[in-house]
Amino acid sequence: MKKLLILSVLFITCLAFRFIIPNSDEPVFVPPSQQRTGGDSARGYDYLINGDYVRGGVPEMIFKRGIGKPTIFLQRDSVNEGIPHDYTAVKAFNGEIVIAPNCLQCHAQVFENKLYIGLGNTFVDFSDRETLSVKNLEKAEKFLKTLAAKKWKASEHFFEVAKITGPQLYTETRGVNAADRLGAVLAAHRDPVTFKWSAEPLLDLPEQVIPSDVPAWWLLKKKNGMFYTAFGRGDFGRFLMASNLLTVNDTSESAEVDKHMPDILAYINSLQAPKYPKAINEALAEKGKVIFNSNCSECHGTYGKDGQYPNLVIPQSIIQTDSLLQLSNYSQPQFIEWFNKSWFSTGDHPAKLVPFRGYIAPPLDGVWVTAPYLHNGSVPTLEAVLNSPIRPTYWSRNFTVPEYNYENPGWKYAVHDKADDRSIYNTKLPGYGNYGHYFGDNLTAGERKAVIEYLKTL
Ligand code: HEC
Ligand code: HEC
Repeated sequence: MKKLLILSVLFITCLAFRFIIPNSDEPVFVPPSQQRTGGDSARGYDYLINGDYVRGGVPEMIFKRGIGKPTIFLQRDSVNEGIPHDYTAVKAFNGEIVIAPNCLQCHAQVFENKLYIGLGNTFVDFSDRETLSVKNLEKAEKFLKTLAAKKWKASEHFFEVAKITGPQLYTETRGVNAADRLGAVLAAHRDPVTFKWSAEPLLDLPEQVIPSDVPAWWLLKKKNGMFYTAFGRGDFGRFLMASNLLTVNDTSESAEVDKHMPDILAYINSLQAPKYPKAINEALAEKGKVIFNSNCSECHGTYGKDGQYPNLVIPQSIIQTDSLLQLSNYSQPQFIEWFNKSWFSTGDHPAKLVPFRGYIAPPLDGVWVTAPYLHNGSVPTLEAVLNSPIRPTYWSRNFTVPEYNYENPGWKYAVHDKADDRSIYNTKLPGYGNYGHYFGDNLTAGERKAVIEYLKTL
């Protein structure tokens, strides 16, 4: 009898604990964080494309030599005339104009000859070991120093940062992004409290560059946590301004940039997913919706007028996709620690990083246009996300003349038997794996087709 009593007490305690401590083998809800209000989206757009949140770059004379004659997709004021959308002319500390990279480097993509702001840029090439090589940067610096000393002074810090960060950002394949790596390198070289630059790294920097895709901006308004692991909590504006770390001089400059962030957030939150431009088989999509709602919406939510998004992070044991990105938050805790004691975590609207061993199940609005898929962009089409045996191990797409498949959304791709070129995605490399997310495998071919038709409507 006594034994039974002890057992039942134990049982009840276990049950109680299950409610208090979320079991890491179950999806976990991401709670909302308070955001600053009063942002204005039109002002945010203006700041995004004309603002000086990155205050370093190269003088126009060097820049124009480097880019040739680009196609201009964004009509801007005269200072930015002839400058492509992903750069902005800004005033350096000594009054000289420099051309600085802006957010659209990674957060805009030219698709079918039109610029889509907010769509992740899957053409970015971090595998290119030439353009930003130290040798090329030194050549440009030498040229400037002799020809225009004041212009060189305006660019000096940018060159210094580029020479240190550039060579540490190389990815193995074109099309994946190294922004997480850039963040880590900048953190290692900046004091967390003052943001003062140090030529020597102050934190241990692992060798590895973990690749990622770039999430579409129009999804953020639904999400309670930023980034693939949803570890970005607290004031989102603080994360939005992280690019300022590239060339910041001190935290008073950061405080100035920070004031604009509610506007940028309002702009990002005003973006809508682009509509699928071709005909949709409505009857099939309707069938797909029913299948989606019983197989997928517990994680990805429901859509339409009364749509609900559950904001769940899905543990590794369930999602089983490449774990390198989320695990790095535990194997490299120095970056989380850096952030959580940095200027970003101070003041009346602090931000913090809360790591999780898994990934957020993203909203799927506009998913037809956001290929390649999964957090590392390892899967070229929606069909392959939902049918793991057909996922290609080595695949490439046409970076010169991009070819999109509308019928079966994703990139048209070629399959290879090895990856002997950096335009070929090699899913055998650590961080580049295309496994996991097996939730579509049990569907019949007909059901899968219907779900894909439904996804086109989101
Ligand atoms: C060098 C490329 C790069 C630049 C420049 C860049 N980002 Fe990002 N951004 C990324 C990548 C990659 C991610 C996803 C990282 C992850 O989740 O691990 C991301 C994530 C985000 C997210 C989170 C979206 C979500 O749904 O969680 C927002 C918002 C964002 N960036 C805004 C900005 C803004 C605003 C700027 C300019 C001030 C900017 N980014 C500059 C690459 C970049
Ligand atoms: C248990 C939760 C869960 C279920 C069930 C689930 N998913 Fe997912 N899904 C996720 C997570 C988490 C990710 C992100 C994984 C990653 O990037 O590593 C994801 C990613 C995706 C992506 C890629 C999004 C992108 O932009 O890269 C698509 C498409 C998708 N899921 C569709 C579906 C469909 C359709 C179903 C139903 C057949 C489904 N999912 C069922 C959790 C789930």
